[in-house]
Amino acid sequence: MTRTPVNVTVTGAAGQIGYALLFRIASGHLLGADVPVKLRLLEIPQGMKAAEGTAMELDDCAFPLLAGIDIFDDPNKGFEGANVALLVGARPRTKGMERGDLLAANGGIFKPQGQAINAHAADDIKVLVVGNPANTNALIAQAAAPDVPAERFTAMTRLDHNRAISQLAAKTGAAVSDIKRLTIWGNHSATQYPDIFHAEIAGKNAAEVVNDQVWLADTFIPTVAKRGAAIIEARGASSAASAANAAIDHVHTWVNGTAEGDWTSMGIPSDGSYGVPEGLISSFPVTCKDGKYEIVQGLDVNEFSRTRIDASVQELSEERDAVRELGLI
Ligand code: NAD
Ligand code: LMR
Repeated sequence: MTRTPVNVTVTGAAGQIGYALLFRIASGHLLGADVPVKLRLLEIPQGMKAAEGTAMELDDCAFPLLAGIDIFDDPNKGFEGANVALLVGARPRTKGMERGDLLAANGGIFKPQGQAINAHAADDIKVLVVGNPANTNALIAQAAAPDVPAERFTAMTRLDHNRAISQLAAKTGAAVSDIKRLTIWGNHSATQYPDIFHAEIAGKNAAEVVNDQVWLADTFIPTVAKRGAAIIEARGASSAASAANAAIDHVHTWVNGTAEGDWTSMGIPSDGSYGVPEGLISSFPVTCKDGKYEIVQGLDVNEFSRTRIDASVQELSEERDAVRELGLI
């Protein structure tokens, strides 16, 4: 039986992450090796020509799973029938721009996109926001889409999750595949908290295996939290292939599930769990099954973790208040 193609809308399709992302979606990494996809690329008018070039290259790959590519500069068309939406295109912070200016500029992108998703996406739409500030952009889009269940709007902290696993593997000499149950809490920003107290390395408690509180506080946490800035410093541009890879991981896990005994990290609307105010889009430990996610409940949060989770959640509350004042939510 031939499966109906899944419509995947990607915004910012002509950008760096878009270029690293689209070929992997088309080759089956996003949803599965047996799931055909139709790509809907959304750009601004200035990005259309480059998006057309990328579409030509996608054609030239003759991907068996790629059932079509359409390119739009109108969000109402770009999100029509979308089952999955990857909101990558965002306004980067430029010289002299304050955080409030950045939030306002992104509000001009994510509010109309949320409205277009509300009006035109498929009933089963799943949204991942990658464009920064990802958590608050997701909140803006979600607030503009009152007919879509709020939990379908998520923000990407999977790159932070993957970075944390990699750092932990390097410290302990463990294989990446032996590390489970790591958690990123809070915002995708320098305040995020990568938590190893519940993580396991080959079945043993990771904090006990590491047994080095100084490394944890002074090396591990800042290295993971500031990795985005370190990549910008080294590459002269923000992470692209690793961000695209994390976006693939996020949606693949959401759709296909977490492995038995493991969990992942996703920025999702809080239900009040772990003291995070309801409605904030904050990163939590989640398990996924049958296309749905659930927050892992009942974890002990020690004082070290509590302080750090609270600091990141406080930043999210401030971002929410700022976009509320701007009338964006
Ligand atoms: P980029 O500048 O290379 O590309 C962005 C693209 O978005 C451009 O082609 C631009 O024309 C397009 N765009 C801008 N406004 C748009 C709109 N309204 N609709 C459709 N397209 C639009 O940037 P990039 O390197 O691809 O990064 C994209 C975003 O992802 C940035 O905000 C970056 O900070 C963020 N990012 C997030 C993470 C994460 O972990 N959450 C990691 C890396 C990068
Ligand atoms: C990253 O974590 O690599 C990015 O969010 C950094 C950035 O500011 O684009």
